[in-house]
Amino acid sequence: MCGIVAYLGNKPAVPLLLEGLKRLEYRGYDSAGIATLTDQGLEIVKAVGRVANVEAKIEAQGGLPGSQGLAHTRWATHGGVTEANAHPHRDDRNGICLVHNGIIENYASIRRLLEDKGHSFYSETDTEVLAALVGELYDPAHGLDLEKSVQAALREVTGAYAIAVMCEREPGVMVCARKGSPLLVGVGNGEYVVASDPAAIIAHTAQAVSLDDYNVCRITRDGFRTTTIDNIELTPKVMQLEMDLEQIELGAFDHYMRKEIYEQPKALRTTMRGRLDEKEGRVVLGGLLTLAPQLVKSRRVILTAQGTALHAAMIGEYLLEDLAKIPAECEYASEFRYRNPIIEDGTVMIAVSQSGETADTLAALHEAKDRGALTLGVINVVGSTMSRVTDAGVYLRVGPEIGVASTKAFTGQVAALTMIALFMARRRLMSPEASARLMGELAQIPDKIERCLAFDDQIRQVTEKYVHRENWLFLGRGYNYPTALEGALKLKEISYIHAEGMPAAEMKHGPIALIDEGMPVVFIANKGNQYDKVMSNIAEVRARGGHVIAVATEGDEEIRHYAEDVLYVPDIPECLSPMLTVVPLQLLAYHAAVLRGHDVDKPRNLAKSVTVE
Ligand code: AGP
Ligand code: GLU
Repeated sequence: MCGIVAYLGNKPAVPLLLEGLKRLEYRGYDSAGIATLTDQGLEIVKAVGRVANVEAKIEAQGGLPGSQGLAHTRWATHGGVTEANAHPHRDDRNGICLVHNGIIENYASIRRLLEDKGHSFYSETDTEVLAALVGELYDPAHGLDLEKSVQAALREVTGAYAIAVMCEREPGVMVCARKGSPLLVGVGNGEYVVASDPAAIIAHTAQAVSLDDYNVCRITRDGFRTTTIDNIELTPKVMQLEMDLEQIELGAFDHYMRKEIYEQPKALRTTMRGRLDEKEGRVVLGGLLTLAPQLVKSRRVILTAQGTALHAAMIGEYLLEDLAKIPAECEYASEFRYRNPIIEDGTVMIAVSQSGETADTLAALHEAKDRGALTLGVINVVGSTMSRVTDAGVYLRVGPEIGVASTKAFTGQVAALTMIALFMARRRLMSPEASARLMGELAQIPDKIERCLAFDDQIRQVTEKYVHRENWLFLGRGYNYPTALEGALKLKEISYIHAEGMPAAEMKHGPIALIDEGMPVVFIANKGNQYDKVMSNIAEVRARGGHVIAVATEGDEEIRHYAEDVLYVPDIPECLSPMLTVVPLQLLAYHAAVLRGHDVDKPRNLAKSVTVE
């Protein structure tokens, strides 16, 4: 995915666009560009690499004029990372200028059609083809002004888009539209800030319209008009953005990822605030109350997500079966959506997503919904697409997560899924006493995460011992098998070290062949019902020269005889332990990335939310 920012108002556009791009750069960052429009026409500056490179180019040429502009930070899908492929893109005829997040799937056939009509292209991107299509259709003498030509073009394309468009022949007009990729229109006082994410809007206004799929919005300094791509007038809701700048500032931390790891105690207190009625032994989830009877009688729950959110969903599967005694299964959204799944009566789908915009998860949600499932969202971004598609849901409330590697959203997702499992368990077979007891333990999680963070320096020292090793294994059992997967993903995605997570028992069925002298093998070996089995697996690894780093329960001295290094977490019931055992793994990955000199918050090739397939 990428970041789009557009401005139409009375202030100089460039400073606002640059500041907005920097707030969105975590979403995708291989190249960037800005275009401004004045009565003298369009001016475009683009650069490969970070937004700062565009800023430097603009300064070197003495600035860019205009109080209307578009800006984009790219995560390439079609065409390499080059200046020519960077956005904004323009057409070759009518001064159309456009930025785009998403994929135009039928761009190749449209490009051939336009080339047959004499259009020439300078880039390899699908986006330039869309700009050229708008230019081809633009014919104000026959009623096809910028708004109508954008509508007409969008009726021809397939794929996903969030776009903002300007035209040299219509200064003072901005047209934006979306399908599948998020886009917000910030409504200020005689000015508008269009962006992919609230982070680029909140400094200017807290009022915004969140466009829905197939919405088109024509903006002038006097107001805005929203229609469908078929020009049917709509009355969109203006919502209040719930974000403040302090939440998205780095503060005293070196990286957003470190800030967000350390924010987890506070974030989880907010996640659980007002939702744990320990006296009654009940979880209070207002968003689910009206659906409680259906949920309690549901016959199966399918959890779906991608990446880190999938690991949280896998823990949700264990929680629902263990606590609520309801059949549950977790599926990769990208697999679920294409495998012709069976959805019988009484099926509930829970989509887990930090951004609420992940294309595969959204598609799986639509698939289940179309087949009659009741759909719930466990989502962080308020007002995101998934939060508007699901029948109900539970917001994480962990605050904006800027670091590409997800940390507080993971523990927030697990906490939310734990509360959903307890919400259902208490209405099914769990006694008030058992529910209250577990809720009491859940309420202690933030303090216990504080305790985990206190071992940060020791975790850095342990990381330093192994950071030169190129292959790691992460092993866990039961609730901590998904945690092992999450630990491996964290290490991979920010330190670029190859790491594989799997059930500890599975190691003997092949992967044990990988173990050579000194190979780091991380075991999640906290106290639980499979502790002895994990100890046997540790012995098997040690017998082959592997170096064991064990995440263990404070007070467990025995494990010191089996592991080279021990990272302690406080004692906690096993079903709640992933919210603690993941913390040393998050810090281990963080330190490995820093020690290797990588960009922790913007790892190569990644984007914060994958809004393309
Ligand atoms: C997390 O560290 C990854 N960056 C990635 O796997 C992420 O969890 C995944 O893309 C899902 O994103 P979502 O939670 O916004 O749907
Ligand atoms: N598909 C477009 C491109 O490759 C947009 C990618 C993005 O969302 O940044 O340029």
